[in-house]
Amino acid sequence: MKISKRLQSLAGLITSEDIVADIGCDHALLDIYLVLNNIVSKVLVSDVNENALANGINNIKKYHLEDKIIPKLGNGIETITDDINTLIISGMGTSTIKKILSNNKLNQIKKLIIESNNDYYLLRSFICSKGFYISHENVIYDNGKYYINIVFLRGHQNYSVKELTYGPILINGNKDYFEYLYNKNMNILDNIPKYKIGERLKIRKSNILLKKLKRK
Ligand SMILES: C[S@@+](CC[C@H](N)C(=O)[O-])C[C@H]1O[C@@H](n2cnc3c(N)ncnc32)[C@H](O)[C@@H]1O
Repeated sequence: MKISKRLQSLAGLITSEDIVADIGCDHALLDIYLVLNNIVSKVLVSDVNENALANGINNIKKYHLEDKIIPKLGNGIETITDDINTLIISGMGTSTIKKILSNNKLNQIKKLIIESNNDYYLLRSFICSKGFYISHENVIYDNGKYYINIVFLRGHQNYSVKELTYGPILINGNKDYFEYLYNKNMNILDNIPKYKIGERLKIRKSNILLKKLKRK
């Protein structure tokens, strides 16, 4: 079975000790791939949306994996069983991810694999405040878009604002990604009127740093 480069990159972050729940599974294609490729022997998949989960269940049936992929309808990590130690949460914004992780069941989790599509400073600082550190990060370019995967493990590490904003691991490479962010900022700047001095200054400041990062 073939899945997108983005989903494949998430699959590459799972190891044999991980007992996985995919929260917001939708199509469950990642989970089918994980089982078919013997990366995990079973996986819990859940979604808050009935139609999305039905889509996943259809796919699970198509591959005859009903005994290995357990679908659950429900909000966030309310659906997880006591054995789960790893969560995959991908294709959502940081505010939804924060809501999902604001649940006591997070205490049983040792590893988080997160692919948010915005607010990375907030994402990293929130998850680190819950007793995790960043063990791995990578950038994926798939179908004309950049995606960021972040793996959090239990532990503590202090990070600077720069590291929380752009990634303690990502800042040591990924020229193309930082060039993309720099150019995106330049476009935003073009559309901010000259009298909005504060807003323009904020973007200019972040571009001073991005200019350095895109050269690394
Ligand atoms: C854009 S899809 C991403 C699907 C898949 N994770 C991926 O990366 O391709 C987001 C999914 O998250 C689900 N979702 C949003 N909020 C959720 C929550 N609080 N609990 C569980 N699922 C949620 C949505 O219903 C939707 O199916």
